Amino acid sequence: MTEQAKEQELIPVLTTNNNLQDYEEAYKNFKWEDVEKEFSWSKTGKVNIAYEAVDRHVDEGRGDKIALLFNDATRDESYTFAQMKALSNKFGNVLRSLGISKGDRVFIFMPRSPELYSSYVGAVKIGAIVGPLFEAFMEGAVKDRLQDSEAVAIVTTPQLKSRIPVAELPALKHVIVVGAEGELGERELSYEKLMESASDELQIQWVDREDGMQLHYTSGSTGKPKGVLHVHNAMIQHLQTGKWVLDLKPDDIYWCTADPGWVTGTVYGMWSPWLNGVTSVVRGGRFLPENWYKTIEKYKVTVWYSAPTSFRMLMAAGDELMKQFDLSSLRHILSVGEPLNAEVVRWGMKVYGKRIHDNWWMTETGGQLISNYPCMPMKPGSMGKPFPGIYATIVDNQGNELPPYQMGNLAIRAPWPSIMRQIWNNPAKYEEYFRLQPWYISGDSAYKDEDGYFWFQGRVDDVINTAGERVGPFEVESKLVEHPAVAEAGVIGKPDPVRGEIIKAFISLREGYQPSDELIKEIQEFVKKGLAAHAAPREIEFRDKLPKTRSGKIMRRVLKSWELGLPTGDLSTLED
Ligand code: WT7
Repeated sequence: MTEQAKEQELIPVLTTNNNLQDYEEAYKNFKWEDVEKEFSWSKTGKVNIAYEAVDRHVDEGRGDKIALLFNDATRDESYTFAQMKALSNKFGNVLRSLGISKGDRVFIFMPRSPELYSSYVGAVKIGAIVGPLFEAFMEGAVKDRLQDSEAVAIVTTPQLKSRIPVAELPALKHVIVVGAEGELGERELSYEKLMESASDELQIQWVDREDGMQLHYTSGSTGKPKGVLHVHNAMIQHLQTGKWVLDLKPDDIYWCTADPGWVTGTVYGMWSPWLNGVTSVVRGGRFLPENWYKTIEKYKVTVWYSAPTSFRMLMAAGDELMKQFDLSSLRHILSVGEPLNAEVVRWGMKVYGKRIHDNWWMTETGGQLISNYPCMPMKPGSMGKPFPGIYATIVDNQGNELPPYQMGNLAIRAPWPSIMRQIWNNPAKYEEYFRLQPWYISGDSAYKDEDGYFWFQGRVDDVINTAGERVGPFEVESKLVEHPAVAEAGVIGKPDPVRGEIIKAFISLREGYQPSDELIKEIQEFVKKGLAAHAAPREIEFRDKLPKTRSGKIMRRVLKSWELGLPTGDLSTLED
């Protein structure tokens, strides 16, 4: 492998005035403590990430600067930091008037809109912990998350509110509806009415650096989704990675394409650019290659952060389409969420004349940990090198570090500023990540080359990554077996050229049911309606029997081997 690696292509550094000039030097000398000086709380001792991201710019004379450029099919608006401060203050007062205070969980369940962002910031200002929910979630997914976190309030829209099963959520006192028309139901309140009478001056809730700030639910291979808690202290990482990975400068127009229902959309769609005082673009609506290029042209986007599936879809849309737009404003392009194929990087060089910088992190890590930096030569296909202040390595199953080119568990020396502080209600799950001290075990497998670049190999567990979205097979299987025709179900990720993986379900049917195309469609709809469209299996295969361990656990590893036509390996635990 070494020989092959030595021949690897290297894309040289293409830009000069990068914020980070010398990676190796920074890696040697950087200390997280140095970043703390940049925050007002180093003087006052009072902390709130929402103050540092929004209000501080007003206090320091940057209030007229645009914070948010929003556009979708029906709206085209911009908000300055001063306007964002006022709107979030109002919303903070609204929540207080409803008796909500520090530590309470407030959820936001709506499509991308300016109100999503101002409500988010307002809730954080009063010390609440915000749980964002992706708009595609259906009733079952919404219920699990609100129940587990015992949310007291949720902000939503008339279209989505019917998916909130209030009768089964005793802790949920208020459903705040943005754009409500007509009669309101039980526990429902009109956002506009509440905002109308709220003051735009707010006494911020100062908190401890270790106090909870946001709660992102994510999937594992077993059990229901896990609530990953992040604290205000994460701002240290959000600020510094924004400087060195996103390479943000004051005049940048920055566009992160991720939805705030996922951690990339909050950390790098909101906190990181705003902590750096940079204008953030948000485009609502579905992915359409044309609209995306239009967005770059319209706003003269300079820094663009997206995901491999999107780049692959843009690639599929053809280079001709791209040539119809003026994309010359682009300076820096980044990608995250799934493996970025070397082929896509080469395509990016050809059509944009730019490197697409891959970087690696997870919901649990709260910020980027491994990255390609503009000042560093790039090896296409590699995730790059650890951020200064981060020690990343590869370990075996006992926690021993492995030499270059040996594949093993991707591990990080804990802690770092943005690391999760809890799995909500589940200390045992939390401890699992730290079972091999001093390491945080990511669940990814990778290797490191002799130059210290990291190469992603796959997940160690059965977690599926479809179009950059993490889906737990257990959650899908549980929904599948709720369908009357389904006796048993096993779910795996099947390799796919565009989406990375698609969800495939193996199903055994109950007595009296016959396989058919109609049944496949019906089962797919059932998951779509009950869980979320992206969680529904694109492929379903019926089998009389599924491979199981003697303890009755479905062996997804065997299903995967069937799918890939590979040997099934050790079957000693297989039921006869
Ligand atoms: C999982 C985390 C990164 C925040 C958004 C996704 C996979 C992430 C890469 C990359 C290959 C990647 C990993 C990781 N992943 N970045 N650059 N190359 N795989 O966060 O939903 O928590 O998913 O996404 O498997 O564990 P997430």
